[in-house]
Amino acid sequence: MKKLLVISVVLGVVLAGSCAFAADSIGACIYKFDDTFMTGVRNAMKVEADKTGVELEVVDSQNKQPIQNDQVDAYISKGIDALILNPVDRTAAEPLMNKAKAEELPVVFVNREPYADVMNAYDKIWYVGAKAEESGTQSGELIADYFKAHPEADKNKDGKIQYIMLRGEQGHQDAVLRTDFSIKAMKDAGFELVELGSDTANWDKVQATDKMNGFISSAGIENIEAILANNDDMALGAIEALKAEGYNTGDPTKYIPVVGVDATAPALEAMKAGAMLGTVLNDAENQGIAAIRVAVKAADGEAVTEESIGYTITDGKYIWIPYRKVTSENYQQFMK
Ligand code: GAL
Ligand code: CA
Repeated sequence: MKKLLVISVVLGVVLAGSCAFAADSIGACIYKFDDTFMTGVRNAMKVEADKTGVELEVVDSQNKQPIQNDQVDAYISKGIDALILNPVDRTAAEPLMNKAKAEELPVVFVNREPYADVMNAYDKIWYVGAKAEESGTQSGELIADYFKAHPEADKNKDGKIQYIMLRGEQGHQDAVLRTDFSIKAMKDAGFELVELGSDTANWDKVQATDKMNGFISSAGIENIEAILANNDDMALGAIEALKAEGYNTGDPTKYIPVVGVDATAPALEAMKAGAMLGTVLNDAENQGIAAIRVAVKAADGEAVTEESIGYTITDGKYIWIPYRKVTSENYQQFMK
């Protein structure tokens, strides 16, 4: 009996000790691992978590909201200290917020912005992302600047830009705003526009190649003067379709300016090769770092402040990481 008591006392001390020194544990869900840009964010999160000495678990929600909901339940029953969520469906953020709120568990949404009423319904909620309007404006400016510098880009000499738009996932704030603001930027620069085609390719390269092949058949490749894609994977998908027609492979008479968003490594390579006009840096690294820093501070019960995380905070809960225009002049500085 006495021996048992000693053992349990020792065990108690060991357990209490290990609890006191236990690192914060953070559980993250990424909408799908098979997404180039989110892979960049995920890798940056891991590096920052290692640096900080927190335990980070990241799971693949496989582009299915019900899977993600179960993953969140599993994290909660495990007793994690903070959640990082990249929702599959941003309109489904409310029940996720409610799950966290019921446990007083801090939650940091990334990349897919919950509606304002969801963000305002809980005091331990943050959003780390980028202002999609900025990237839309910058990508539209890339095309407008190109047309100003290259009058021959107006192939049919009608003074208008005949363009194709490849959009991201339906309902995603980045798809809607990048589309609208890139069009606005070209108009603001004084161009009249003619849309030869616009469709969603769900951020996906293969889907973009398919859609682009369709537009080439319907519009005729010689009539297309510009291609705007809401992200680089889709821009690269479009470029595949162009290359198959002998375009964007070096012959200056067979070139269509293509722009994307993200500044992924393959997009920067395509710029280097002269196959892609430009892109906009969607700063995966800083988004990943900021998400971890907010989660760690909140998990520790400390105030999340600009000083404690090293990023600007808007309205107490939004961390906006700026976009940057990537042109033929400066792309090298974005290559790693
Ligand atoms: C966007 C990004 C896309 C895709 C999407 C996923 O910000 O530009 O490439 O990753 O997020 O939600
Ligand atoms: Ca024209």
